[in-house]
Amino acid sequence: MNAQVDSRPRGQETRTAPATSAGQAAQLDIRPFDSALGAEVMGLDLSRPVAPDDFKRIHQAHLDHHVLVFRDQRITPQQHVDFSRRFGPLQIHVLKNFQLQHHPEILIVSNIKENGEPIGLGDAGYFWHSDLSYKDKPSLGSLLHAQELPNEGGDTLFANQHTAWDTLPEALKTLVADLRAEHSYLAKYEELRARSPWRPKLTQAQIDEVKPVVHPVVRTHPENGRKALFVSEHFTTRIVGLPEDESRAVLAELFAHTSAPSLVYRHAWRPHDLVFWDNRSVTHLAAGTPDHLRRKLYRTTIEGDTPF
Ligand code: OGA
Ligand code: MN
Repeated sequence: MNAQVDSRPRGQETRTAPATSAGQAAQLDIRPFDSALGAEVMGLDLSRPVAPDDFKRIHQAHLDHHVLVFRDQRITPQQHVDFSRRFGPLQIHVLKNFQLQHHPEILIVSNIKENGEPIGLGDAGYFWHSDLSYKDKPSLGSLLHAQELPNEGGDTLFANQHTAWDTLPEALKTLVADLRAEHSYLAKYEELRARSPWRPKLTQAQIDEVKPVVHPVVRTHPENGRKALFVSEHFTTRIVGLPEDESRAVLAELFAHTSAPSLVYRHAWRPHDLVFWDNRSVTHLAAGTPDHLRRKLYRTTIEGDTPF
C-alpha cells in the first residue's frame, strides 16, 4: 500500500543544498510511490522557510505525481495557511460553521462531537469527488494536515484521472471528448444530511453561493498539459445535451472507470502527515472511520483556473 520505490535511478531526485538565509539546509528527496500516483517528499520541515529551489522542485513533483505526502510536519495552522498560499489564493468553504477559529481558510474535517455538537465536517469525502468542482473556479489543490487519527480506518483514496482518460475505451473517449457536465454542491447534500449529523440546513445565502456550474467532462491540466476526466459521483449531476437516461448511463460508466482500483493510491495516515493533492489530476474518497474513533484533520484549498 505504502510501498515506495527509490527514484534515484532517474539521477536527479537527490541533491544537497547549502544552507542559505532564504531557507533551510534541506536534503530534499522526492520518492514516487510504487502506485498509480503519489510521492513522498523527504527532508523538508515546513515549519521553516522553504528555499525557492526547493519550492520549485515541490511544485514540479506535485504536477508529476499529483499527491505529495510530507511526513511528521509539526506545523501551526498559520504555517499550514502560509505554505498553502504560496500556490495561490485560498478558498473559503461554504460551511462556515466548520472553520477553525481565527483561520477561516481552514476547514475542520472531523467526526468528533463536543457537547453534542460536531466540530467539523465528518462526512467529507463520502463520495468520490474533486474538491470544489461545483465552483466556477474549482480548487487547484488541497492540503490536509492530520491532527488526531483513529487507530483503525480513516484512510483516504486518490484516483489518477489522467490515467483514467488515457485508459478510457476509444468509443467512450469519442463520445465524451467534447461534452460538458453540470456540477452541483447540492447534488448529494440532502442524502448526506439524512444519514449524518454534519450537514446543517443551508441558508438561502449559502444556496446562492453554490449555484450549479458547467465544466468540460475532459479537462486539460493548465500546468502539465495532460488531459484528465473531470466528473465525480459527488458533484456531477448530468451531461449537458444528452437525454436524461443516456446521461445517467454514461456517467455511471465514467464513475466506475474513474475509480478503478488500478488508478488508486490509498493513503494510510500517520501522525502529523500533510498531504497535498492536485484536484485537477485526481479524485479522492474517504474510506471511512468507525463511529467510536476520533479523527480530525485541517484542510486548506487553493483556488484554480476555470477548467478548459
Ligand atoms: C477533504 C476530503 C477525505 C478524508 O478533506 O477534502 O475529501 O479522508 N477528505 O478526510
Ligand atoms: Mn475532498
